[in-house]
Amino acid sequence: MSDKKDLILQEDEKHLVLDHDYDGIHELNHPLPSWWTGSWILSFVFCVPYFMYYVLMDGPTLLDEYNTDMAKINKVIEAELANSSKFDMNQYSTWVKANDGVAKGKVVYEDNCLSCHSDGGAGDIGPNLTDKYWLNAKGDAKTIYPVVVNGVEDNGMPAWGEVLSKNELMSVVSYIITLQGTNPANAKEAQGELIE
Ligand code: HEC
Repeated sequence: MSDKKDLILQEDEKHLVLDHDYDGIHELNHPLPSWWTGSWILSFVFCVPYFMYYVLMDGPTLLDEYNTDMAKINKVIEAELANSSKFDMNQYSTWVKANDGVAKGKVVYEDNCLSCHSDGGAGDIGPNLTDKYWLNAKGDAKTIYPVVVNGVEDNGMPAWGEVLSKNELMSVVSYIITLQGTNPANAKEAQGELIE
């Protein structure tokens, strides 16, 4: 039994038999694939400079990287907010015309405003947006836009400048303008000042 010739070996396996013999037990040594050995050696080579840079020298820690990324993100958010809070009538009219703003604004309205201002701006928790009476705005895009951006937080109108993009803000304002004089069913009573 302890003789190698008793082994059933494929022809191409013969050179793999190790020449030790434990009570008749033979061992074949299949080498690992070269791609595996190669990546194993590479990982060792890689870890030397990695360890030196991140542990021994002053490479950034995870917290440093997080802080750097957050600083970049905050800059982008601030720039976007500063841009959103600026209203320019030319930019607004051009964008709304070129991008079918009213149709887009209707979708923005239904997703974000309908819960308080009701269907078609009839008014519910928030005031009626279809009549000529206004609490904060004066019925035109130039005065409605900042109310939507900044909200009237003390009275329950959220600030949308932090939530919606500039394009969404311009489009929802253009949709609100189209609601003027539509007289929806169940319209809320007039609130605020009459603006002719
Ligand atoms: C959580 C409820 C709520 C939501 C949601 C809401 N609003 Fe309002 N909105 C109000 C309230 C309440 C007021 C009245 C504020 C006041 O009394 O000064 C108001 C006021 C307004 C005004 C000024 C009306 C006036 O008479 O001057 C506009 C314009 C307006 N909202 C547009 C929007 C738009 C556009 C959205 C969605 C992007 C929206 N609102 C979402 C509650 C809401």
